[in-house]
This record gives sequence, structure tokens and C-alpha cells, in this order.
Amino acid sequence: AYDPASEILITVGVSEALQLAMLALLEDGDEILIPEPCFVSYGPAAIFAGADVTYVPTRVENDFQVTAEDIERRITDRTKMIFLAYPSNPTGAVLRRSVLEEIAEVVVKHDLVVLSDEIYDRLIYGDAYEAGHTCLPSIPALRDRTVLLGGFSKAYAMTGWRVGYVCAPTPVYEAMYKLHQYIIMSAPTASQYGALSGLLRCEDDVEQMRLAYDARRRTIVDGMRSAGLPTFEPEGAFYCFPDITSTGLSSEEFAQRLLTEEHVAVVPGDAFGPSGAGFVRCSYATSMEGIEEAVVRITRFAERCLEGAAQNAGQAIDQTA
Ligand SMILES: Cc1ncc(COP(=O)(O)O)c(C=O)c1O
Repeated sequence: AYDPASEILITVGVSEALQLAMLALLEDGDEILIPEPCFVSYGPAAIFAGADVTYVPTRVENDFQVTAEDIERRITDRTKMIFLAYPSNPTGAVLRRSVLEEIAEVVVKHDLVVLSDEIYDRLIYGDAYEAGHTCLPSIPALRDRTVLLGGFSKAYAMTGWRVGYVCAPTPVYEAMYKLHQYIIMSAPTASQYGALSGLLRCEDDVEQMRLAYDARRRTIVDGMRSAGLPTFEPEGAFYCFPDITSTGLSSEEFAQRLLTEEHVAVVPGDAFGPSGAGFVRCSYATSMEGIEEAVVRITRFAERCLEGAAQNAGQAIDQTA
């Protein structure tokens, strides 16, 4: 538990919280390790704070999970902080408690701090839901080494209300509070009342939304796989991340052409880091009807691309012969 008066700060979304935490904790030349593909603003926020970013690639073969070994291999004497963000945007990957405990050992051994973006903590499904979300500071060794970021944008569907929070040991809280007061003063009062209502009165709605996302998740993952696009099973957040390499297109080409030819919007996977190349991110935070229609259009589009790729391959074989 955290002391509301000296360890919890209400912010303008996780966006503000993560920038405050980095400004409070990072000095010029410090290094931060960030697993990728990841949400787009982590690296730039660290650079604003004067730090050098070392990205840690994660791969679909390893369910887009970062391991203690991946992290430890990249630690130098300038490494100050590790960024963790699970459930993940864009992949939907979730880390199990055993993996987090191994990472905790590395954090303690190298005297590091962890910034943990758990904005999707309530949106987990399947086995991950059965296992339960592990809040990083609930690992005793990490309680005083973690800055926990959370918010109302996702589970409460309150993105535009701009309310988030950060939980941190008092000295870190005090440094962030100072910055917060000069930069923004406070999160909007009306929005804070809205968030409070969410906490006090909307638990059933959050669960209903989670169940609806889970049904949409299964529909979109099955749809992508039937369209011939291998798709990692996301266990959290509201994105699926199909592998589109079989179409012969880059992520950018796939997203551009799908938009202009079929009017379906997806985000190129490499917008989230180099390990996202060959993937696209599809959001299922939309209606079931919208998802079903998108699946029809993506299937049609993928078939056209696969035929084109097969013809090109045939021509290449003819030319070689
Ligand atoms: C992983 C992650 N962190 C943070 C944010 C930003 O959240 P907020 O609306 O609380 O600023 C997002 C928004 O997409 C996100 O996906």
C-alpha cells in the first residue's frame, strides 16, 4: 500500500506521469533500458530528460517477453533505470510473476530503479487473467525501487478526461510533485471527480468491458489467422499484432495500402521499435461489428497480396530458369 499524502500523485494521464518520473530520476548521460516494440513516447521522454536510451528487442518466438538475461546483458555502469510496460501496447504480451521475480534480482544486484507502466493492468484475459496481474511493487524487493504508473484512460475508457497517477517512495514523489506544480499545477478537477466515480461506482462496468474486449480479442485473432496472417495470442491490453511478412509488403506499405484500398486503419509495427517490423498493430477497442467488417476487408486484402506475392515468386523462378 502507498500513503496517499506522501507517495501518490494524480497526474494528467500516464503521459505526464512518465515524463515527471524520468525528469525526477534521470541525469544527463544516464542510461535507461526500454524493451521494444513499445508505446511510442517512452524513448522521447527519456531523451527529454537527458538520458541515453538502450532498446531491448523482444521477439514473437519468445511471446514478446523480455527476460532478466536480455536486460542484464545490456547493463553498463551508466545504467540507472529499466522501463517495464506490461500488459504491452502494441503486442498484448503479459509477463508472469516468475519472470518479474527474475528481473527483480537483476534490478537489486545492479542497484537500479524500475519505471512500470501498468495502465492496462485491469485488461487481461485467459490464462493471464487466471494467474492475476502482478503489480511490480508487490514484489517486496522492488517496493522501494519502483515508480508505478497507472491511469483511467484504458480500463475506465476515459482517455480524453486525462487522469493518471504515479505511486513512488516519498523522496521520488517529492521531486515529481515539485515538477508537477510548476508544469501543470493539477489534473483537471472535474476529471478527478469523474475518476473517483469510476472507482466508487463502476467496477461492474469495468468487468463488462473486459469481457467484451476478450470476445473481440478472440474474434480478431481468429480472423487474422484465418486470413493467413500468423498472430501471437495477446493476453492483455486491446491490440493484436499479426505478422504480415507473407504478404510481401513492409509494415508501412501494408498499413498505407489497407487504408487506401479497404479503408481499414492499422499502425505499422515498426512505429513501436525495430522489432515490430513485419507486423501491424490492430486495435480491438471498437465495436464487434466494426471488427467483423475489418476482418472481411483484411482477408480480401491479404488474399490479393498473397496472390501478388505468389505471382512475383513464380516470375522470379521463371527468370532464374
Ligand atoms: C502503454 C501506454 N502507456 C501510456 C499511455 C498514455 O496514457 P494516458 O492517456 O494516461 O496519458 C498509453 C496510451 O495509449 C499507452 O498505451
